[in-house]
Amino acid sequence: MVEKLELLAQLKKEKNAVILAHYYTDDEVQKAADYVGDSYFLSEKAREVKEDIIVMCGVSFMGESVKLLNPDKTVLIPDETADCPMAHMATVERIKEVREKYDDVAVVCYVNSTAELKSHSDVCVTSANALKIVENLPNKNIYFIPDRNLAHYISKKVTDKNFIFNEGHCYIHNSVTVEEVKKVKNEHPEAEILVHPECVKEVAEMGDYVGSTSGIIKYVSGSSKDEFIICTEKGVLYELKEKNPNKKFYLPKEKFECMDMKKITLDKIIKALKTNEPQVHLKKELIENANKPLENMLRLAK
Ligand code: 13P
Ligand code: SF4
Repeated sequence: MVEKLELLAQLKKEKNAVILAHYYTDDEVQKAADYVGDSYFLSEKAREVKEDIIVMCGVSFMGESVKLLNPDKTVLIPDETADCPMAHMATVERIKEVREKYDDVAVVCYVNSTAELKSHSDVCVTSANALKIVENLPNKNIYFIPDRNLAHYISKKVTDKNFIFNEGHCYIHNSVTVEEVKKVKNEHPEAEILVHPECVKEVAEMGDYVGSTSGIIKYVSGSSKDEFIICTEKGVLYELKEKNPNKKFYLPKEKFECMDMKKITLDKIIKALKTNEPQVHLKKELIENANKPLENMLRLAK
C-alpha cells in the first residue's frame, strides 16, 4: 500500500490534483485522500479547492455535486458504477404535481440525489444541516425528497410545518432493526447508541444521539463514555478509531457496508489520475439549474 500511496502523491503533484473522500470509503482510500468528510464538508471543499483536477472518492451523486459546485475543474470519479440507489428514488413528475397542489411549497432535496432532481428543487440539505435549514425556511409546506427516514426525523423536530413525504430510503441504514440494536445494547449495556437519521424512526428513537457521520464522530470525541454502538456505515470506524484509540465501537450488524462506496479502490484512483477518466460531464443548463439549490444550502447552513 505504501508504494501505491507514494505513486498517488507523485501523480497528484504532476497533475495538480486533489483527492476528496467520504467517510464510508475503505480505510486505505481515506488514508490517500487530502480531505475526508461528510457530504456537507465535501460540498464546501468541492467549491473552494484550487487544483485543476478533483478526484471524488464516493458515489456518483457526489461527483456530480463537485462538478455543480466547481464546474471549471476536471472532476474524476474512480468508478462510474458506484451509485447511490436512493439518489434515484424520487421523480420530477411528482415534484411538479406537488408544486401544483401546494402553494408555498419548498422542495427540499437531500444531497443524496441526482443532479436532475436537484435541478427541480429549491434547496439541498445534508443530514448535518437539514434541521437548521428546514426550520428557517419561510415556507409552510415542505416536500422532502428522496429520504423518508430523514424527512420523518426532521418533521418530528419542526412541528409548525406541513411535510409531504417521499418513499425513498438507503437500503443499508433502513435495514437496521430495533432488535439488532437491542441485542448489542444487551451485550454492552454501558454503550451509548449513536444513530444516522437515514435509519428508520424506531431505531432513531433509541439513539442517545442522532446525527450525520461528522456529528457522530464529534459526539464520540466529546463524550466521557468509552463504548458506542454505531448505527451507520462501518467506514466511519476508521476516523473514530484514529481519533479515539482507547474507545470501543460496536456495529448493530456485521455487514454494515455500502457496497457502492466500497467500489472505490487505490488502483482505480491511480488509473483515473493516469488516464483522466472517468470524468463527470454535465450539460451547461443542468449545471446552472442544479447548482442553485446547492448554493442555497451552503448559504443557509452558515
Ligand atoms: P453524511 O456523511 O452526510 O452523514 O451522509 C451519509 C450518506 O449516506 C452519504 O451517502
Ligand atoms: Fe446511498 Fe446509503 Fe450508500 Fe449513502 S450509504 S451512498 S445513502 S446507499
